[in-house]
Amino acid sequence: MRERDARVLITGAAGFAGSSLARALLHRGYGVTGLDITPPGHAALLRREMSDPGFTYLWKSLQDVQPSDVEGHSTVVHLAAQPDTPLAFESPRYTVMQNVEGTVALLEAVRKTGCVSKLMFAASGNEIGRALYFPIDEDHPLTPHNPYGFSKAAAEMALSAWRLAYGVPSIVMSTGVVIGPNMRREVFVFKWLWDALHGKPIVVEGGKQTRDLAFIDDVVRAWILAIQAPVEKVAGQKFFIGSGQEYTVEDLAVICREVAAHCVPIQYTGYRPGEEGHREAFSAEKARKALGYTPQVTTREAIALTAEWVRSLL
Ligand SMILES: NC(=O)c1ccc[n+]([C@@H]2O[C@H](COP(=O)([O-])OP(=O)(O)OC[C@H]3O[C@@H](n4cnc5c(N)ncnc54)[C@H](O)[C@@H]3O)[C@@H](O)[C@H]2O)c1
Repeated sequence: MRERDARVLITGAAGFAGSSLARALLHRGYGVTGLDITPPGHAALLRREMSDPGFTYLWKSLQDVQPSDVEGHSTVVHLAAQPDTPLAFESPRYTVMQNVEGTVALLEAVRKTGCVSKLMFAASGNEIGRALYFPIDEDHPLTPHNPYGFSKAAAEMALSAWRLAYGVPSIVMSTGVVIGPNMRREVFVFKWLWDALHGKPIVVEGGKQTRDLAFIDDVVRAWILAIQAPVEKVAGQKFFIGSGQEYTVEDLAVICREVAAHCVPIQYTGYRPGEEGHREAFSAEKARKALGYTPQVTTREAIALTAEWVRSLL
């Protein structure tokens, strides 16, 4: 099958990761359907893709997805979610409704069509909040430490249940925080760069907890490798897509300040609930062996590339 004939359905296509993936797939000749609740006129990150003949926009809620929406797509990449940890503390039930019920609605639609060969899910490092060992690998049990992590872990378990019950061919792609141009402005790296570039203090919640950041281009490349891999190699599998680099949050704040080239103060506030002692360091071994994936952008480079984009917004 030529790539143009292979259609990929992306849920959450109007968002940061979804629009980046849609762009990369269209560039490679895939047909793409982007499903999102965002009104088309507000889907700013898809402005160019909207006029691409290979792209179709499906303005719809995930909760109302039908088998007919899924038909004709060999791969479904499921990104639609309530992705914000702070909002999940304030609105845990809304977060569960979006992330769990939405995923079940999609699973049912995929199950009823029976023609999807890969259903890929963007999982989160938050599903493993207090790791039992390092580096964290794909066999690590799900041990979420906040409401957002719980909602994503429950969605991942739903994928596993539908795979075991009905043979829905799911693939779990898990990352820590993803950064890069067009990233969500609620995420700490964006806020720190924005504040530093405005000469304002960087405010750090906690400091000693660690993060394994991923750069968007690396993540998109890993997803495309999984889309292109033989089904039998990836179906039913989970992959961590990490940078292979673990940084404390306070060190990340220092890098943001250096990259912004503004000598602003770094101020510390308390940890978020469940954050103290949190460490993130994912093994990239399985993704390397099965997909041929290795990260190409270091954490410092990823922050510098993100800062370039933040500067362009000033
Ligand atoms: N960005 C990260 O750091 C990160 C890390 C790990 C996992 N993830 C996961 O990756 C996915 C994408 O994250 P992102 O940063 O691109 O988020 P984003 O908020 O930029 O994009 C999510 C998109 O989903 C859409 N959406 C939400 N609920 C919907 C619904 N019910 N029906 C239809 N569309 C809906 C939103 O309108 C939005 O366009 C999420 O599943 C998130 O949990 C993100």
